[in-house]
Amino acid sequence: MSRSTSSSSLWRPWMPVTQQADLQITEARGCRVRDADGTWYLDGISGVLNVSCGHGHPRLIEAAVDQMHRLSHYDPMAASHQPAEALAQRLAEIMPGDLNESFLVNSGSEGIEAALKICWQYWRHLGENRERIISFEAGYHGTTALGQELSGLPFTANDWPNRFPVDHVALPAEPRALRTAEGAKALLALFSQALNSATPTAAVIVEPLLGLGGCTVFPEGFLAGLRRLCDEHGALLILDEIFTGFGRTGRMFGFDHDGITPDIVVTSKGISSGLIPLAAVTATTAIKETFRDAPVVQGLRYGHTTGGHAVAAAVAKAVLDVMAEEKLVENAGTQGAGIRSGLDAFRAHPRIADIRGLGLVIAVEADSPESAEAIATGAMDNGLLVRAERGVVRIAPPLTITTDESIELVDKLSRAIATLG
Ligand SMILES: Cc1ncc(COP(=O)(O)O)c(C=O)c1O
Repeated sequence: MSRSTSSSSLWRPWMPVTQQADLQITEARGCRVRDADGTWYLDGISGVLNVSCGHGHPRLIEAAVDQMHRLSHYDPMAASHQPAEALAQRLAEIMPGDLNESFLVNSGSEGIEAALKICWQYWRHLGENRERIISFEAGYHGTTALGQELSGLPFTANDWPNRFPVDHVALPAEPRALRTAEGAKALLALFSQALNSATPTAAVIVEPLLGLGGCTVFPEGFLAGLRRLCDEHGALLILDEIFTGFGRTGRMFGFDHDGITPDIVVTSKGISSGLIPLAAVTATTAIKETFRDAPVVQGLRYGHTTGGHAVAAAVAKAVLDVMAEEKLVENAGTQGAGIRSGLDAFRAHPRIADIRGLGLVIAVEADSPESAEAIATGAMDNGLLVRAERGVVRIAPPLTITTDESIELVDKLSRAIATLG
């Protein structure tokens, strides 16, 4: 299979890039993408895990073009506009409790940056200078300076000094050993220990499942327990739903599986189905209220020129319409379960350590990083794009995937696993 060479003048993210470095994508439609040599692939990773409604969805393109003709954008500090107002209203409707207040930015990392600034400033408004944050060591929350420090994953860190106190909670066992009531207990015991420190905690931030951190699915009850612990210690609970939000796990949000209401939720990726950059930080009204009468030297010192871009907001509103009309949340649950059961036969394979997932997040853990790389390469040779990440193959196709495409995905992946021997 021939692969095209990408431009040498382009500085790509995360350089040096090790995976599929020579692949150049020129066209995409639905669940398929085509490379510069004309080869079509089934997109098992939704672009950058974000193209939830499939590539080139006509309703989303129409919403973008229509909005461009009316108003592309306007200074978000000086004025507001209807698309951003309407999106904030829709987010308030689909989020539980009084998560009614959305701040719009351009990327997931910016959303995390904003969530931290909102959290720290909130504590100052209450007269407490709480700064300590607790996160998972294997969590991933982006690559801007603040977000980068929330992760303890060695391959995401730089060695420059920390700007704020952060305590990383390590996983107490292998991901496959955590999906039990004992697993939930062990995880909660570690968070309880971290929260019991003499230094009060400003917030606990977690993903509903660890994406980059081994695609680790948490046992039922973990998030509910964490909510209780945060309440006991007066700490805010921030959910990073950048990867999991908007139907990816078979519920609208990952935290819906445990029926909890976080204090702050950060969403991106699926919010605009990858058509245009957008992220939202949705906080409770109680948090936003503290900013209303804050002295000017306090308040939220954060915002971007293109934050809450009118075209992006119009697309996000169309995404929610498409998701409802095409029943994409339900489809994520059904197709995800189908794909996982299609891979069941490999649970006993000597080179496969675990197969796990939630909705359309599916992880095949191999016995080594080399085996995972071999599966991803084999899948690509069979016309399927997936990600190999340190021993785990991550699969997250668009939520629009059909039953026939799910069967094709399982078939292509099975061929790749079979070549492991
Ligand atoms: C859970 C999570 N948090 C944060 C981010 C960072 O988002 P972005 O790449 O848009 O800055 C990502 C991106 O992959 C993510 O998956």
